[in-house]
This record gives sequence, structure tokens and C-alpha cells, in this order.
Amino acid sequence: MEADRIKWNQRFASEDTYLGERPSPFLLREIERIQRVAPGKRALDIACGEGRNSVFLAQHGFMVTGLDISDVGLAKACRRAEKAGVEVEFQQVDLDEYCFTEQFDLIINFNFLLRELIPQEMQALAPGGVLIIDTIMASAELLASHNPTYLLRKGELRKICEELDGEILFVEEKTDEEMPTARVLFRKAG
Ligand SMILES: C[S@@+](CC[C@H](N)C(=O)[O-])C[C@H]1O[C@@H](n2cnc3c(N)ncnc32)[C@H](O)[C@@H]1O
Repeated sequence: MEADRIKWNQRFASEDTYLGERPSPFLLREIERIQRVAPGKRALDIACGEGRNSVFLAQHGFMVTGLDISDVGLAKACRRAEKAGVEVEFQQVDLDEYCFTEQFDLIINFNFLLRELIPQEMQALAPGGVLIIDTIMASAELLASHNPTYLLRKGELRKICEELDGEILFVEEKTDEEMPTARVLFRKAG
């Protein structure tokens, strides 16, 4: 949606990184298990933003495609990959209207929630492929200022994954933090 592109371009406009220089702590913590479990090296970073997680995966041997709507974020992501000396294929797409055409061994989905995309992500995963979702949960404070459509409800992520064909390797909800989050590491059936 054009409004998303404009909003995120404004957020990414500063020289600084919006979500920091380091990859997501969950990805950092789980990278060895991900490398062990993923059946191959093709990775997809959904709503990759400024590319912190795409670049990290590329540095760990994955062939990464990063998708996002923000051309400003993607330009920063390209510079980050170049600086790190890795190759990542970044594509500007609107995920509200996107159809996957390739297969991936790993799909990551950090700080972005589009529930309708999850079945498509499952289809785009190779047998035995790994799906990671890590995003914000609803709380009374956040609901006052955020659209509930983009926030996970309590227990929702586990429930979604329990209905998919595969195995939950790890799931947690952190509700005691200022920004409550839920995350899952899921492996599609082989
Ligand atoms: C909170 S940022 C997360 C960035 C990245 N996943 C990370 O954790 O560093 C949310 C991202 O979603 C992207 N986004 C929002 N709506 C989108 C859409 N319709 N299609 C593609 N990307 C979208 C934004 O441009 C932004 O980069």
C-alpha cells in the first residue's frame, strides 16, 4: 500500500538505523540451530527493512532475498550489505499483494504481521524448511496507539503454528516487557 511506503520511508529517512545495527537477538541466539535444521541455504526475509537480519543471514552462508515496500529502507539495506561484503537480493514489493514464486529453506518474519501471508509462506517453504516469526503482541498500552491488526493476541502465534503441517521447535511470549513480543521457530514437515 502506498501509505505504508510513505510512512516507512519517513521512519527510515534518518542516517541512523531505525531498528539498530545488530540483528534481532532471537536470530543471533538461534543461528546455529537454524543452520543445523534448515534443509538448504535459500532464505527469504519478509519486510526486511534496513536489512539487519538479511545481512546477518548472508554472513552465515545463506543466499538471501529481502522483500520490503520501502525504497528508502532498501537503499540502506543495500549499503549495509555492500559494507559487510555480502550479496543479498533486495526487492521492492508490496506484501499486501505479493505472490511467492520460489521455494526457500528458511523464511524469517521479524516485526511485521500480515496474517494472510502465513499460509503463502508455508507454501513457499521447502519440505523441512524453517519459518521464524517474531513480532509485537497487543497490550493495553500498545492498543491505545497501535492498530490491533498488526499486533498478536495472547496465545495466537502458538495456535497458528499448531494448525500448520510441521513441528514447533521453540515458542515463547514475553509479556513482562515494555514492548511485549512473541516468537516461534517452526519446521515444516519433510
Ligand atoms: C518494524 S519494520 C521491520 C523491519 C525488519 N523486519 C527488522 O526487524 O529489522 C517493518 C517493515 O515492514 C515493511 N512494510 C510495511 N508494510 C509493508 C508492505 N505492505 N509490504 C512490504 N513491506 C512492508 C516496512 O517498510 C518496514 O521495513
